[in-house]
Amino acid sequence: MLAMNYRGPQRVRLDRNKPMPEILHPQDAIVRVTRSCICGSDLHLYNGNVPDTRVGETFGHEFIGIVEEIGPDVHKLKVGDQVIVPFNIACGQCTFCKQELYGNCHEANPQATAVGGIFGYSHIAGGYNGGQAEYARVPYADVGPMVIPADMHPDDAVLLTDVVPTGYQAAEMGGIQKGDTVAIFGAGPIGIMAAKCAWLFGAGRVIVFDKEEYRLDFVRKYAQCEAYNFMSIEDPVVFMKKTTDSLGADVCIDAVGAEAAGSKLQTFTGRKTLLQAGSATALQWAINSAKKGGVVSIVGVYGPTLNMVPIGNALNKGLTIRGNQASVKRLLPRLIKHIQNGVINPKELITHHIPLEEIADAYRIFSDKLDNCIKPVLIPPSAKM
Ligand SMILES: NC(=O)c1ccc[n+]([C@@H]2O[C@H](COP(=O)([O-])OP(=O)(O)OC[C@H]3O[C@@H](n4cnc5c(N)ncnc54)[C@H](O)[C@@H]3O)[C@@H](O)[C@H]2O)c1
Ligand SMILES: [Zn+2]
Ligand SMILES: [Zn+2]
Repeated sequence: MLAMNYRGPQRVRLDRNKPMPEILHPQDAIVRVTRSCICGSDLHLYNGNVPDTRVGETFGHEFIGIVEEIGPDVHKLKVGDQVIVPFNIACGQCTFCKQELYGNCHEANPQATAVGGIFGYSHIAGGYNGGQAEYARVPYADVGPMVIPADMHPDDAVLLTDVVPTGYQAAEMGGIQKGDTVAIFGAGPIGIMAAKCAWLFGAGRVIVFDKEEYRLDFVRKYAQCEAYNFMSIEDPVVFMKKTTDSLGADVCIDAVGAEAAGSKLQTFTGRKTLLQAGSATALQWAINSAKKGGVVSIVGVYGPTLNMVPIGNALNKGLTIRGNQASVKRLLPRLIKHIQNGVINPKELITHHIPLEEIADAYRIFSDKLDNCIKPVLIPPSAKM
């Protein structure tokens, strides 16, 4: 089958002969992928910033498809079902899954004590192949996958695998109270969705920072919020103080993660030399922009080791810091309703539909922010069968 193939930092190509996935466990299903996305999280892999990313791996944790085959212990799905596959691989049985912490399943990734299993996200997330391919093996097939509602557009469905739940959970973890000022760092798909969802929790003011003008223009319209270019204001922390009577934001959301721009020191230590687990510029801004007693919600991805983070400020301001991989399965029922009721329209974020065969170009366009790209979707040739 055709599949994305990682060759090393910034080198991705199409594998024309990847072996077809097989049922390896009675609870597996094989899904024929009809759409998959490239995510900001894939860029951390693409840029070589995630340890134990192996040459030959297939990325892709955001995909939908048609069930081709099921193992003998799969009872809720049948061949032919069109399914949303959450990016988390979760067993549904462990102590964490029972608390609906599907991003922290203890069984799906025996390698790690923190993160659970994730499709196509290196061996630190379980070493599973991803969905930027024609077919994918889906473990615990009765747990994660959900049949796509008949009236749902596939572009909406594919964004339910990650972007919508992650943006929503970013806002949810902020504990937004009515009238709160919410500052969001990052206007990628995740920051855009977080801005949209912040209003659902009662935000009074939503302010987004990025450096890409086209993304700032998009988020202003899509989420009806304020949006500023951090390259053309002196300092986002000072800006946030000035615009809130010196108090700061009630809630700050980091939707950037380890590859943040904006600080030479952070970039040098976190991206060029890897002396810390990524550049923590956005997190630093989030902590320093938050009001005393406020909340910092982190969905931007970082590695587990030390970062240059102003933790003393967090302590002395009495901040609550929350973060996690989104718990997709927990959020799907309510987010499907929001889409059906027209509250959220995720497919507007999709700027590019690209054939899977053009995978290398797709990565370059998304990574280099070419052609006003916000979210690219890959379509495998077998999707049209
Ligand atoms: N926790 C989860 O479950 C989860 C799920 C999906 C994605 N993520 C993470 O969320 C982050 C965003 O994902 P995305 O798909 O939107 O990525 P993206 O790369 O498309 O967007 C990131 C944006 O941040 C901007 N940026 C860079 N430095 C900044 C700074 N200092 N301040 C403000 N903006 C800055 C970039 O210009 C870019 O527009 C990534 O770290 C990704 O790994 C987490
Ligand atoms: Zn993703
Ligand atoms: Zn589990």
